[in-house]
Amino acid sequence: MKKNEWRNKLLKAVEEKVKGDHTGHSITHLLRTEKYALQIARGEKGKLDEEVISAACLIHDVGRMDEFLGIGHIETGIKFAEEWLPLVGFPEEKIPKVIEAIKLHEQREGDTDKTKAQYKESLIVQDADKLEFVGAVGIARGFQFAGAHKIPVYDPEYKEVDYSYKPLEKVLSELHHIKKLMIEKRFNTKTGEKLAKKRVTFVKKFIDQFIKEWEGKL
Ligand SMILES: [Fe+2]
Ligand SMILES: [Fe+2]
Repeated sequence: MKKNEWRNKLLKAVEEKVKGDHTGHSITHLLRTEKYALQIARGEKGKLDEEVISAACLIHDVGRMDEFLGIGHIETGIKFAEEWLPLVGFPEEKIPKVIEAIKLHEQREGDTDKTKAQYKESLIVQDADKLEFVGAVGIARGFQFAGAHKIPVYDPEYKEVDYSYKPLEKVLSELHHIKKLMIEKRFNTKTGEKLAKKRVTFVKKFIDQFIKEWEGKL
């Protein structure tokens, strides 16, 4: 089956699943992640499987609303892929690669239980997802997520937090989450890092101004 055929079918199923998302993980996030991932893949040396990349990006965050029911979104994503990819006619032999990319898409520098990716496509999906976090849209999505999960926007008392990996929502205010990801060396690929440059500069400026305003100094 041609990519367009299975992709159209998958997109419909994904749109249905994420309808009403209010956590910053709507269909627009999934589509932008796909766009950036393909852009990164084309900027990297070597042949990468664009079908795997597209499918993984479209599915990776479909489970965000399930988290309110106590189900992790990676678990939901994997189940969704196992159920839908065969149904839409996605090449079966590539399904394990898509599953790996979904499973590892949130790995951050400092994760203690880091699993090594077997496929480079997983690293590309990670980079595209991180790119969606850095920048103006990333800030907006971050605060939307914080609101949905009752995470404080900013709490200066969290200043001395240990930045080693913990479930972030439990230990950080949103601004610290943003700062944490800015501090880390976050990109697997040169292309991802290059694409993030302007955004990183913007976010650093945003954080500076935010803190000044918060403290009533501006
Ligand atoms: Fe995610
Ligand atoms: Fe994502």
